[in-house]
Amino acid sequence: MPMNRVVRLVKRPAPGLVTPDCFEIRDEPLPEPGEGEFRVRISHVSLDPAMRGWVNDGKSYVPPVGLGDVMRSFSAGIVEASRHPDFQEGEAVVGLFGVQTHALSDGKGVQRADTSIAPLQSWIGGLGMPGLTAYFGLLRVAEAKEGDTVVVSAASGAVGSIVGQIAKIKGCRAVGIAGGPAKCRALIEEDGFDAAVDYKAGNLAADLAAACPDGIDVNFENVGGEILDAVLARMNPFGRIAVCGLISAYNATTPQPGPANLRFLLTQRLRMQGFIVFDFIRENPIALADLSQWVSQGRLKFREDVREGGVDAFPQVLNLLYTGENFGKLSLKV
Ligand SMILES: NC(=O)c1ccc[n+]([C@@H]2O[C@H](COP(=O)([O-])OP(=O)(O)OC[C@H]3O[C@@H](n4cnc5c(N)ncnc54)[C@H](OP(=O)(O)O)[C@@H]3O)[C@@H](O)[C@H]2O)c1
Repeated sequence: MPMNRVVRLVKRPAPGLVTPDCFEIRDEPLPEPGEGEFRVRISHVSLDPAMRGWVNDGKSYVPPVGLGDVMRSFSAGIVEASRHPDFQEGEAVVGLFGVQTHALSDGKGVQRADTSIAPLQSWIGGLGMPGLTAYFGLLRVAEAKEGDTVVVSAASGAVGSIVGQIAKIKGCRAVGIAGGPAKCRALIEEDGFDAAVDYKAGNLAADLAAACPDGIDVNFENVGGEILDAVLARMNPFGRIAVCGLISAYNATTPQPGPANLRFLLTQRLRMQGFIVFDFIRENPIALADLSQWVSQGRLKFREDVREGGVDAFPQVLNLLYTGENFGKLSLKV
């Protein structure tokens, strides 16, 4: 008899990488859709850096995952049973279905995935939350425009790679910061960045200066810490910083100091603004139309790192995001 394989949060993690004992992974009866519901057979679970924050108890932009709850995730799959008037069996859908093999839904917040544009897993990646984050952060928050020098950190990842490609589409100079020569090479050879800086090489300030001879107009910040400090010191007057993520601090075991170079905010009259992708939810159709068009034209490509192992591998695979072992949008094939 088919069962639902489910990952539930059973313990709040201590500071540092999440340990497997925070999750219970077990078989449960397959959920049957009631009136107005449908069941999704999940094919791909998205792994996102934000998950580290979602399992903490504390103030954030969404409530924490409750103890005993299915671990929250964006997931993609196919409707396999429906008693919902708007969702039919066989439709490809994406939503906050959680880390499990099957999910019940009432359709709220669920989006259809047009697999004629890109395969289903891309709808939790470049055409899903990470792609929308890159689009809104770069174009709405940082207001990047033609001729700007745009610097993005975690540049080879799900969000960063798309930020660089959109920057090029909009006529900017795109500079990526990433860890290691392989990722930096891919930024230039595959994603079309103008320059790449390996922050692990040990010369961050000098390498960034060489990559940005005319300074930096826009910073799309994914990492924080020393990388943000190095970028702050190269910002041009009236530059804009979109704070998308601060991944270097997500697993910190001691309080992290603020930017040492905050004085450049004053002297260069910078604007620095945090944002969450959901802030722009009403504009999703506009963004998706642009992203889809660029994909169809071959101007936007997605780097996807799809891992095997099913939902049982979730605790181990999640941590690859924080050790830099993922290379592109990380997801689990279920
Ligand atoms: N604001 C929003 O609404 C929103 C939405 C989605 C994502 N985000 C944020 O966007 C950022 C990127 O997310 P993503 O999904 O695209 O992940 P990703 O870039 O695909 O993967 C994470 C990458 O971060 C880098 N990294 C990890 N720890 C680091 C450290 N201590 N120092 C420097 N780099 C480190 C690693 O790349 P290297 O090998 O290059 O170090 C790793 O591959 C995250 O900060 C995330 O929280 C924000």
